[in-house]
Amino acid sequence: MSHHGQLDKAKIKQSFASAAGSYDAVAALQRQVGLDLLKKCPLQAEAGLVMDLGAGTGFLTRALAVTDYQSLLAVDIALPMLLSSRQKNQSLVVDYLCADAEQLPLANASLQQIYSNLALQWCEDLRAVFADCRRVLRQDGQLVLATFGPATLKELKAAWAKVDDFAHVNQFYSLQDINGFLQQAGFSDLSLESVVYQTQYDSVLGLMHELKGLGAHNVSQSRNRKPTTRQQLQQMIKHYENAMSDGQIIASYEIIFVRAGR
Ligand SMILES: C[S@@+](CC[C@H](N)C(=O)[O-])C[C@H]1O[C@@H](n2cnc3c(N)ncnc32)[C@H](O)[C@@H]1O
Repeated sequence: MSHHGQLDKAKIKQSFASAAGSYDAVAALQRQVGLDLLKKCPLQAEAGLVMDLGAGTGFLTRALAVTDYQSLLAVDIALPMLLSSRQKNQSLVVDYLCADAEQLPLANASLQQIYSNLALQWCEDLRAVFADCRRVLRQDGQLVLATFGPATLKELKAAWAKVDDFAHVNQFYSLQDINGFLQQAGFSDLSLESVVYQTQYDSVLGLMHELKGLGAHNVSQSRNRKPTTRQQLQQMIKHYENAMSDGQIIASYEIIFVRAGR
């Protein structure tokens, strides 16, 4: 499975730009995954520049807790996200760069470590992103990231599949795909792990409200370009809520944790 060439970049940028104000209130899973990522792959002690790629409102940027010998660079494609981070992290010394992870305007071997929490699933060409990450890392640098895997929102996907044939949920690369892309990009010292998180919601609309607040819109090119009708939405909700237990629906999120030594 691949979503290479199938994401609408302008829509991604616009979705996240308009979610900058709502993101933190609905990003509990993102914060949990970020903390788990740091526990699994702590910041290394080496001096140098640490990049938070797809930094958003700056939760991970802050949690990285760099030392006096290290400095922080927060990169995001959506300027309002970086402005929000700057406002929330006034006591942190951070350089901000509004740029696309697929076209990093950075010099070769300029970074010591790259961290990225739940951002790279929005990139079309992960092979190229990893190659560029390797280019900007120093010889002994590391790339650490968490991204979504294919089992993410499988219940929502299954409920929509009973209504129509469009892609209502973004497609995500598997652990095997990501492993292959990292190897092709030249990374050798790899460790990957897939963990499924499950969250409960009172209703499907509750889940959809959270996804909207995160800026996580369906950007797949094979999405339905016509607005979903109220009837289609109600059918999907009925299918999803058939599986309710104790008044709650479950949403699964497959998280792929990666550490790659340069
Ligand atoms: C779900 S948020 C995660 C934010 C943050 N890392 C966190 O853990 O809270 C995803 C972020 O990735 C950014 N993003 C998406 N595509 C990007 C790209 N191609 N280059 C840089 N940032 C990107 C979005 O603007 C958004 O701020």
